[in-house]
Amino acid sequence: MALSAHAGSETLYIQHFGNEEARGLQYYLKQMNGYSALKKAFALKPDQVIDEVKKSNLRGRGGAGFPSGVKWSFIPKTSDKPKYLVCNADESEPGTFKDRDLMRYTPHLLIEGMVIAAYAIGAKHGYIYIRGEYAREAKLLDLALEEARQAGYLGSNIQGSGFQFDLTVHRGAGAYICGEETGLLNSLEGKRGEPRVKPPFPATWGAFGSPTVVNNVETLCAVPFILQRGGEWYAKLGKLPNSGGTRLFCVSGHVKKPGLYELPAGAVTLRELIYDYCGGILDDRKLRAVIPGGSSAPVLTPDEIDVVLDIDPLMKIGSMLGSAGVMVIHDGCDLVRLIYRITKFYEHESCGQCTPCREGCRWMANIFKRILDGKGRLEDLDLLLDIANNINQKTLCALGDAAAGPVKSFVTKFRSDFEARIRG
Ligand SMILES: Cc1cc2nc3c(=O)[nH]c(=O)nc-3n(C[C@H](O)[C@H](O)[C@H](O)COP(=O)(O)O)c2cc1C
Repeated sequence: MALSAHAGSETLYIQHFGNEEARGLQYYLKQMNGYSALKKAFALKPDQVIDEVKKSNLRGRGGAGFPSGVKWSFIPKTSDKPKYLVCNADESEPGTFKDRDLMRYTPHLLIEGMVIAAYAIGAKHGYIYIRGEYAREAKLLDLALEEARQAGYLGSNIQGSGFQFDLTVHRGAGAYICGEETGLLNSLEGKRGEPRVKPPFPATWGAFGSPTVVNNVETLCAVPFILQRGGEWYAKLGKLPNSGGTRLFCVSGHVKKPGLYELPAGAVTLRELIYDYCGGILDDRKLRAVIPGGSSAPVLTPDEIDVVLDIDPLMKIGSMLGSAGVMVIHDGCDLVRLIYRITKFYEHESCGQCTPCREGCRWMANIFKRILDGKGRLEDLDLLLDIANNINQKTLCALGDAAAGPVKSFVTKFRSDFEARIRG
């Protein structure tokens, strides 16, 4: 797997990936100036910490890109209920594999980020909800938590500050829907992992009915750097307004050098990522399509890859950066089979609460299967679009949109592939 960075610009994480020593407390303290940001945070008032994160233009790395400082500021100050901080380590979006390396190689960065976030919102307990398949990472996190407790970075009166916080690692059981934050919270509470009706949002009614912040692993790992070097510094690492820091891109599929790439937010186009960083298309074939942000992101054609790879530019052209899982597809790929496979995934992972998603995903998968089996009809293409439109934005959570968007984009942008298949 390639591990790469942007020439001449600073990287925060990638230089530590692959180094097993990096996960230990001693390495973190000596090589990464570890837990010094926490000291700085304790010298500030919680609101000042939130202001610093607002200044940094850190946007959530879990998919929606919501400004993290703003999210923290929604936690009510006056509530006498306990507050919770939950790290979303479910990493369930197909094509995404960045949080795994952050937890595997820099677990103390995540712990320090969580202690700072907890201090800012007034939480005394937090959870790391990690996907069941990451058994090894869950163990590594437990070891790092114990190290942090022994050294006084977790527990009561952390580093003499009077602040108390501890963390529990909670393993999921392999359900995509438990990456959706309210499905996750239900699962954490021991209930079925079904998304909740919103509002109320987790900021007022989260874990165990208490105010809760849910943040992605990469989001929380950015926090120590923001406190160490300042919100403005972090904002300037990004190359677009409203998007600070660096991003970890997970590149897979038909490129010569797949892997993780850390680049400043908004610094490169999709074309540059594929050809300059990933060495171009495998076997020097022609590029056919790119899914830019995990399987939920609408597909792009080769003439759309000059888009800057960041949240707002991708949204403008009708796709999304999502979890930055970039999947590159060459001209040897059967696109009909590919979208069938993606749709089968959503059919399987739908929690079944909302009829449009539960029934619609199955219908779409069945129609794709019919086309693959040589029994498709030309009118099936408009039927697919009609079903997708009846799922989109008509469900409690965004899994419906995640299933509908790819179907709409594949059928619209590559209609001739489907027609050719139907005509045999
Ligand atoms: C179906 C579905 C699956 C999701 N899976 C994940 C996931 O695996 N990891 C993640 O961080 N966010 C996931 N999200 C987004 C979360 O709901 C939430 O927005 C995120 O954890 C917030 O953290 P952030 O603000 O730091 O991005 C998912 C959303 C949906 C609708």
